[in-house]
Amino acid sequence: MKYKIPKQDINLKPFMSRPPRFNLKNVIMRTDMVYKCEIINIIELTEIEKLFHLKILDEAERQIFDFRPGQFVMLEVPGFGEIPISIASSSNNKEFIALCIRKVGRVTDMLHQARKGARVGIRGPFGTSFPMEEMVGHNILLIAGGLGLAPLRAPLYWINERRDEYKDVYLLYGTKDPASMLFTYQYDGWEKVNNIKLFTIVDKGDKNWKGRIGLITELFQEITIVPDNTYAIVCGPPIMFKFVCDRLDAAGIPMNRMFVSLERRMHCGMGKCCRCMVGSTFTCVDGPVFDYWSVLNLKEAI
Ligand SMILES: Cc1cc2nc3c(=O)[nH]c(=O)nc-3n(C[C@H](O)[C@H](O)[C@H](O)COP(=O)(O)OP(=O)(O)OC[C@H]3O[C@@H](n4cnc5c(N)ncnc54)[C@H](O)[C@@H]3O)c2cc1C
Ligand code: FES
Repeated sequence: MKYKIPKQDINLKPFMSRPPRFNLKNVIMRTDMVYKCEIINIIELTEIEKLFHLKILDEAERQIFDFRPGQFVMLEVPGFGEIPISIASSSNNKEFIALCIRKVGRVTDMLHQARKGARVGIRGPFGTSFPMEEMVGHNILLIAGGLGLAPLRAPLYWINERRDEYKDVYLLYGTKDPASMLFTYQYDGWEKVNNIKLFTIVDKGDKNWKGRIGLITELFQEITIVPDNTYAIVCGPPIMFKFVCDRLDAAGIPMNRMFVSLERRMHCGMGKCCRCMVGSTFTCVDGPVFDYWSVLNLKEAI
């Protein structure tokens, strides 16, 4: 007798609403591929941070490489290892990408010794991004602590290239001292050309510092937040998230309009090795950009 599956038992719906991103063939091709790059420029920003301009060697690959603000690449220093680094340049820039890198250990130490012309590899881009289109027509509050200004640079470029689409844009930036401030050479342009309202503060001043001294949360006194019409992006050390996001929450900004970028140790960058997991969440695929509501629901995320 030929057995037939009863009609009502046939599952007509797909088992998953969508396959996981890393199972999509086109995504696999993009994420497994290593783009060979040349370091075409190096800017020394502070004692421990440098900005590297990387040019993808192959012209066709350079045109394919496409990313959104908030995404990161896995940067390979041949013979030393691979590390996740946020892209700190404009997503419109097809000539080179910029990576701001702090010297902290094995791979980053080696990279800081590299000269112009050195070859490295990148995979990616990986991860979620900031919802730049959703933010159109709103006030934007960008808040960065220390190295957190690096991942904010891509959304800043995005906004500056479409400045008319966004209302008031505030950038609140805090570092431990004046010498640790990143991208100081761009502040004038951001303020005067792009109409970004920039407020800086340091934990500890020096003899030349005439600006504000204190914690980054003190900068909230300087601005007026319109909660119904504001989106916030917060990047910096995890300790900062809670204090800053609590203040934004108290000001009335809904938690699904506050975005943070979570940094975890990563290995594959594409949801395969489980190195970056927080609970059952892959910070490389489901993040690094999360809204604050999701972060609060991630156990021990901050
Ligand atoms: C999505 C994402 C974006 C990032 N963007 C940037 C960026 O734009 N610029 C930048 O300088 N760094 C960034 N980082 C952190 C960077 O990946 C690490 O500093 C780097 O992996 C260190 O490699 P290393 O071999 O030099 O240091 P290691 O020798 O591996 O470690 C040195 C020290 O750094 C700590 N460390 C290593 N990786 C991390 C990490 N992911 N988070 C926190 N502490 C870590 C280690 O615990 C150790 O104390 C990012 C990390 C992630 C996950
Ligand atoms: S880094 Fe491998 S799963 Fe996220």
